[in-house]
Parts: sequence; structure tokens; C-alpha cells
Amino acid sequence: MKILLKNCKLIQGLSNIIIEDDKIIQIIPCSHQATAGWEHKTFPSRGLGTSFDGDFDQIINIKGNLVIPGVIDPHVHIRDLEQSYKEDWQSASESSLAGGITTIFDMPNTIPSTINLENLNLKRKAAEKALVNYKFFLGATNSNFTEIGKILKSDPSDIAGIKIFLAGSSSNDVIEKSKIEEVFKIAKKYDKVVAIHTELQECLDKWNSKIKEKTILNHNKIRNRECAISGTELVLKLAEKIRNKLYIAHISTAEEIELIRKYKNNNRIFCEVTPHHLLLNESILEKVGNFGKVNPPLRSEKDNEALWKAINDGTVGTIGTDHAPHTLEEKQQEYSQAPSGFPGLETGLHLLLNEVNKGNLTLEKLIKLTSKNAAKIFDLKKRGEIKVGNYADLTVIDMNKKWKIDASKFKSKAKYSPFDGMEIQGEVIITIVNGKVEFFCSLPNF
Ligand code: DOR
Ligand code: ZN
Repeated sequence: MKILLKNCKLIQGLSNIIIEDDKIIQIIPCSHQATAGWEHKTFPSRGLGTSFDGDFDQIINIKGNLVIPGVIDPHVHIRDLEQSYKEDWQSASESSLAGGITTIFDMPNTIPSTINLENLNLKRKAAEKALVNYKFFLGATNSNFTEIGKILKSDPSDIAGIKIFLAGSSSNDVIEKSKIEEVFKIAKKYDKVVAIHTELQECLDKWNSKIKEKTILNHNKIRNRECAISGTELVLKLAEKIRNKLYIAHISTAEEIELIRKYKNNNRIFCEVTPHHLLLNESILEKVGNFGKVNPPLRSEKDNEALWKAINDGTVGTIGTDHAPHTLEEKQQEYSQAPSGFPGLETGLHLLLNEVNKGNLTLEKLIKLTSKNAAKIFDLKKRGEIKVGNYADLTVIDMNKKWKIDASKFKSKAKYSPFDGMEIQGEVIITIVNGKVEFFCSLPNF
């Protein structure tokens, strides 16, 4: 199977990309077409800009639209198994494709959770329906170190790393502080990344009894910033001692950013920011209620600013959506009952494209944050860059298209969002995974 993508706008300029089977085999700058050997042929155009010719099985005229590496989302709760009513691998895949995402890492707090080989194999089976690339995080408990070691020793190729939760959030195992070191040592032995949700349970318990009025407007006080900050400091200190690879998930406060700057003097400490912690703060909760309930909570405007600064100076390595689908009915319960989290696969890249259009983010930075850095941190071979020899994971974007987020149209089963109704400029029009066009949005001008 050979595909020609004509007139792709890459960072380095207008180019034609040739894909053979699952890989990129040639990238030809448009100004160099004369040496490419196929330019004299005429390709009849049919339908939505696609046509067929002897040399190529498919030709797509990208018409000067932007092409970026397919997004790698290192933080996705795909659910399935006993929670397939919230999301499954099919719906999560379709949601990813519509959001320009070609690789997803699944979090272990499923039912059953990914804490032993038996459950991992159930998940492996469920994930066979995936339309995107994927890997799994193994969940650490207080007592599954031997099991994790065995899995990593025997078959680590589909394992993204080990996930630790230091607090309860959504069907997850919480591990004791005293066990963290043990997990770090196993991860180091097998050269895997440890991803951590750093809110500390004992601190959350303290604030929970202190703040009497339980409402969404107090979520940020109840799950107090102090708990995320102290947990982040704890794991940074331990990682300095053990010298393992540490990936701090969803950083939400200015203080944590300061801590990471202090400890990030090597190539082993990485951190992730979500689009919601970057772009929203607790002031939106009056309007969106429990749709904005998420852990760690939405913080303050000052925190948004600190996260932006950290994005721009390179302190933050990746954007993870923390796609955490629950049903609408579950989210509409009263505050204490409503689960935390909301879908993010279809909004994540779009929100960032909008920021590029507003001049708040460069395209180069967006590409690093959404694909290049994640491929490096998690050692994904031949992905994360548009390069000859790499897998053809590509996302085509119409940077001019203006549209409105409409959560009722999400491919995800979770059809709500704190970003619902937001005006966006920039839309994913094609998503290609391993050389296969999996998503093709027919726009009037395409
Ligand atoms: O808000 C959240 N939802 N935070 C988490 O840590 C877990 C997630 C979920 O799985 O629903
Ligand atoms: Zn999460």
C-alpha cells in the first residue's frame, strides 16, 4: 500500500509525503519536486481530493493544510471491561482519532485494575479493538511488586510504565508512602517510567474534615493544594535518591512547578500538564458545576499563569488529556457522589491549536508537548516525529476553521465537558495511524 500526501504544510515548509505500508518512506520539499521523479505524472482528482494511480494506491491532496506528528496522549482512562458503559476501546479510539491522537497510554484504575498479569491479559484482549496505538500502565499496590517485576521481565513491550496513586480518586489502589521507594527501584531495574498522581491521602483527609461545606465551589479547598505540593516534593526527593525516571502527572500548582525546577537538573524528571489545568480555573465552577470536578482540582488564575510559564521555559514536557469519562447521570449527582474527571480526547489538541492561533503557543512547542517529548520520555521507537523511516502517524489540521465545541457530538460515551460551547479556531481533518487513514472529516473546502 502506497499513499501520496500532496502539499502538506510541515514546520520546514510545503512538502509531499510518501507512505508505504505503515512507514514514511519519502518527504519531498515541494520546491524540489523536479528531482523526485513523479512530478510529471498527472493525478486525476476525485471526490474529496483523493484519487488513484498506478504508482500510488491513494493520493490525497492536503492542499497546504498543516500536518503534525500524530498526538501521543500519555494519560488516558479508557475504562472498558466492567466499566465499558463509561467508555470502551472502540469509543475511546474514535474519540482519539477525532482529536488527532494516534497513541494512547491507558491508566490502570479500571475494574478490574491492571495490577497483575491476569487482569493485564483481560485488558490486552479488550484493547484488540483499538484503532490507535496504545500501551498500558501497570498499577502499583502495596503488595504487587513481585508481580510487576515478573511482567516487566517477561513481556514489557506494551507497558508504558508503572502508575502510582498517592490518594484515592476513582476506583484506584492507593499506596503507602513507605512503599514508593520499592516501586521506584523496580522501575529503575527495568528502565520504565513511574507516573505519579501526587495528591497525598492523609493530607486530603485532614482538609476534608476541616472544610465543612461540601460543594463543588470548595473542591479546590477540600482537595487542598497543600496535598499535591507535599506529595510532589516527597516523590521528587525519593527520585533524587533512587535515580529512577519520574513522570509527575497533571501538575496543577505554581508551587509544584517551582519544586520541579529545583529538582529537574537531570534527564530523569518529567512533568505533564493537562489542557484543563492550563486553561481553566475554579472560577468556572459556578457555571459548569460537577462537570468541572476533577482531581487534582481546577486551581487559580495564578496557577494557570505559572503553568504557562513552565510550558514556555521547557519545565513542562508533555500535555496529557487525563481523559476520564463517566456517565452524564453519574456527573449529575450531588457533589459528594459525582465522580471526578471528564473527557478530554476530543478537546485536548483543539484547545492547544486555538492557543497557537491566539499567539500564546508556537507550533514547534505544540509538537514537542503533544508528541515529540512523549516519544522520547517513554522510549517509543520511530514515533513522535515526521521523519523518513518513522511510522506514518500523522494529523492534518485546518488552522483556519472556526467552530464551537459541542459535547453532545463527542464520539466518547461521555458527552459533556467544562469546555462545552467554547469557540475554537483550528480543526483536525484527517488522522492517519500506521499509514492508514482512520479519520477523514469532509469539510466544504477540502
Ligand atoms: O479526576 C480524575 N479522574 N482524577 C483521577 O486521578 C482519576 C480520574 C478517573 O479515573 O476518573
Ligand atoms: Zn488520570
